[in-house]
Amino acid sequence: MPAKKFLARIKKQILYKFKFLAFMKTIQEYIEENKVRFLDELFDFIRIPSISAKPENKADMLKAAEYVKKSILDAGADAAEIISTDGFPVVYGEKMVDPEAPTVLVYGHYDVQPVEPLDLWESPPFEPEIREGKIYARGADDDKGQMFMHVKAFEFLMATNTLPCNVKFMIEGEEEIGSPSLKKFCSENVKKLAADVILISDTTMLAQDLPSITVGLRGLSYMEVEVTGPNRDLHSGLYGGAVMNPANALAKMIASLTDENNHITIGGFYDDVMEVDQTERKAMARAPFSLETYKKAIEIDKEVGESGFTTPERTGIRPSLDVNGIWGGYTGEGAKTVLPSKAYAKISMRLVPHQKSKKIDALFETHMQAIAPDGVRVKVKSLHGGEGYVSPIDTIAYQAASRACETTFGKKPIPVRSGGSIPIVSDFEEVLGIKSILLGFGLDSDAIHSPNENYPLYNFYKGIETIPYFYNFFAEMQK
Ligand code: BES
Ligand code: MN
Ligand code: MN
Repeated sequence: MPAKKFLARIKKQILYKFKFLAFMKTIQEYIEENKVRFLDELFDFIRIPSISAKPENKADMLKAAEYVKKSILDAGADAAEIISTDGFPVVYGEKMVDPEAPTVLVYGHYDVQPVEPLDLWESPPFEPEIREGKIYARGADDDKGQMFMHVKAFEFLMATNTLPCNVKFMIEGEEEIGSPSLKKFCSENVKKLAADVILISDTTMLAQDLPSITVGLRGLSYMEVEVTGPNRDLHSGLYGGAVMNPANALAKMIASLTDENNHITIGGFYDDVMEVDQTERKAMARAPFSLETYKKAIEIDKEVGESGFTTPERTGIRPSLDVNGIWGGYTGEGAKTVLPSKAYAKISMRLVPHQKSKKIDALFETHMQAIAPDGVRVKVKSLHGGEGYVSPIDTIAYQAASRACETTFGKKPIPVRSGGSIPIVSDFEEVLGIKSILLGFGLDSDAIHSPNENYPLYNFYKGIETIPYFYNFFAEMQK
């Protein structure tokens, strides 16, 4: 290579390095200068009790949507709107910098889970409080805290005039109830939502010093079972022993759904399960995991699951079946001697790639009817569901996310398959033809969906710091 060309290349590299270091410093300074305001704004957002599952919070849902719209506009979007759907509205916003530049679509949700049991909260769920460096509140992590990091990262890029991509925001209000309206919304807005990648922060990382990128989500079949016996509640002395008790029947049926190896006994349940080969299992096993820490964190003495698989495999690559709630008969204080007329259970099945939730719903129903004992009738209905997702790691988007984490954590992130579900992600691929990157900053200890949900300030600010690098690397690698 001629000396001149060589020198020019070196010069370019030095200049790039210099610009990069300057960018790094600006992000850190911007966060430092604005960190109190970021938190104040997040707290105002969290204070709106946007529980999608509860009809009495309908007005709050609209308030939360307004709040998201305003924050996207304040951060520098060209436009933002609240678009009505068959259910709760979607907030859409965008900033187009250059038609030639790549486009990133940010997805998140402004709805949260119900807060019960309320008495187990140490501070009120919608009055955010900082204790030991963590924000305690419903939605602190899932997903208000994580979604808001994107708004603030975008604000930084706008304020410093360094946004290298077009950005679109699609923030929905029905994720926690199974996104019933979003698939239709997507199919009606394919053009509007066109993008090169969907960027989502709604998952976890392994630990504060172990960045990771979620490369798998499980699918879901969520069922409700109703077992009916006699036409009214009966005196458990006058009738006990002579009538099939629907609560007893349901308990037996549920108990038989898994065998001694914790295999699910529903006929055909495993037919489509994608078996993961040894090479990939070995690779997965390299992710740090301490069974002792795991057990201690949730105070159990023994882990239990499908034989032949490790704990991370049991949630990452294997399906599961769990009762989420079970009721019937007298559940009030003290004793009431009654043989219930009806008993109910809500049962979730987490699915893995290639299992189809509709097919699993049908297998479940057939199986429950088949094992119902004499003397009761069984009704099964599907509450919601969706497919799993596996995200490839040989894409520009994955590499950009990986380099972003490497820059801010000083470590290459580990690809991890999560046990959780975001069913709409597979619909995004089907309807919009766009793959998603799951760049989550939550921790398992954040207690999402539980009392005392929390989100460490460290993760909140680290997310805001990391996201701008994703845009940078993603735009740079497209060239
Ligand atoms: N953010 C979670 C999903 C999640 C959390 C995935 C952590 C991976 C790691 C999401 O809000 C959620 O709770 N999803 C529901 C599914 C939905 C259909 C109700 C779930 O997984 O139960
Ligand atoms: Mn979520
Ligand atoms: Mn959730």
